[in-house]
Amino acid sequence: MIRTFGRVGNLTVNRLCREQVITVVNGSIPGPLIRVREGDTLVVHVFNKSPYNFTIHWHGVFQILSGWADGPSYVTQCPILPGNSYTYKFTINGQEGTLWWHAHFAWLRATVYGALIIHPRSGVSYPFPKPHKEVPILLGEWWNANVVDVENEGLATGLAPNNSDAFTINGKPGDLYPCGSKHSYKLKVVHGKTYLLRIINAALNNQFFFKIASHNMTVVAVDASYTEPYVTDVVVIAPGQTTDVLLTADQPPAYYYIAAHPYASAAGVPFDNTTTTAIIQYHGATSTTPEMPVLPAFNDTPTAHKFFSNLTSLRRGRHWITPPLHVDEKMFVTVGLGLVPCGGNATCAGPNGMRFAASMNNASFQFPLKLSMLQAFFEGVSGIYTEDFPDNPPVQFDYTNANVSASLLETVKGTRVKKLKYNSTVEIVLQNTALIGVENHPIHLHGFNFYVLAQGFGNYDSQTDEKKFNLVNPQERNTIAVPVGGWAVIRFRANNPGVWLFHCHLDVHLPWGLSTAFVVENGPTPSSTLPPPPLDLPRC
Ligand code: C2O
Repeated sequence: MIRTFGRVGNLTVNRLCREQVITVVNGSIPGPLIRVREGDTLVVHVFNKSPYNFTIHWHGVFQILSGWADGPSYVTQCPILPGNSYTYKFTINGQEGTLWWHAHFAWLRATVYGALIIHPRSGVSYPFPKPHKEVPILLGEWWNANVVDVENEGLATGLAPNNSDAFTINGKPGDLYPCGSKHSYKLKVVHGKTYLLRIINAALNNQFFFKIASHNMTVVAVDASYTEPYVTDVVVIAPGQTTDVLLTADQPPAYYYIAAHPYASAAGVPFDNTTTTAIIQYHGATSTTPEMPVLPAFNDTPTAHKFFSNLTSLRRGRHWITPPLHVDEKMFVTVGLGLVPCGGNATCAGPNGMRFAASMNNASFQFPLKLSMLQAFFEGVSGIYTEDFPDNPPVQFDYTNANVSASLLETVKGTRVKKLKYNSTVEIVLQNTALIGVENHPIHLHGFNFYVLAQGFGNYDSQTDEKKFNLVNPQERNTIAVPVGGWAVIRFRANNPGVWLFHCHLDVHLPWGLSTAFVVENGPTPSSTLPPPPLDLPRC
């Protein structure tokens, strides 16, 4: 049993030559690093001393029979109110590698996040040579403003919230920003040694290209799932994803920049085009002027696709994966933007007198506020959500063409979920739409990993695209970056009862409704039935 605590409160920090008050856990950004071993039970007492409602989500943790600890506000719990506390308790089973935790209320995760590292059980080794050192690398996004205000201003206007002012590596923007050299992360290395970088994209709204000058990296895991070793000079990582790479310090002793900037796939949409850096400092370096890597162009989709589609699962020894071959539930889910009426809001100023929205199959998800969905599930309370999330979009159309009927642009609000039988297998075709903006959406599933069978561009066509399915060693993830103007097919087994959010991990799209949830029914035995909630579960 690992016991720890989190005190949520204010911190005054200096970034980009300004002083700012941010919300953090235990006085630091990133927040505390949590290390456990597979099989451990983790108990985290969270005290909310911040002025905001608050929850923590353990991103990527299966939460087997512990859905009450998953954390998305109004889904598995009501928020922890200011001055209150809640204890998250769960056992980590059947996973090892790099995961992370973050706030799951409003935009607080911009400053409330940290690494959750799951080591193998004692006596069990990694499926790669033991690294000299392990180094968490958390990529973040920074605003010169209170992030809760930034989100609320965006929601009030019906337009997109302001873009960020900087990106960060381990909480620090780096040399290329004003006053950046004071706030630059440094990693000291010794020539000849190998380091395991555990890279986490904790940014709110940006995918990244990530490079290290003059060095290759070997990817060995993504989203806490081992991969076949994959050598690359660039890592592409979407919000919510993690990527573990081995880095060997095999270059002449010197200083080298680590650099990351956005992979911004949406044409014509303004974004934060700045670059964050950190420095690799070789012991005995002769020069202290770091060499800068050349990052891919912001819209370099071929590079992003090459990286994402070349990953496969490690399939040997105890890492023998078995993707489901039989499918019980087939769904075709569009992901994209749309519009909803302003609803009498005077400040609302979106296109056509509407406000931006986002949807899956034209359904814009709304969080219930009266009772958490998991509590409604457990107590059998009706009226909190409806089990009518559509298996298909209202009409099939050319998803790559922006000129579609207004009826598809205008999304329908609701708390619509998809009900699944315990242990059923699910296949989902995720199809990006070109409604309003064409962009790559990172879709995250709570509570499960899924296999990524195939991904491609254009309209998904089952006739030809099913032939491309990898059912042998597909990569296993909890967050899939659905290619811009394209599609991805995933499969998972619903072997955990509860309510599991399925959403876009761009925080600008989640409040717009790019989400649904799976309600997985209880199984036939006590060991497949959700136990009652902890006594301190926050109520609405
Ligand atoms: Cu990492 Cu629902 O989120």
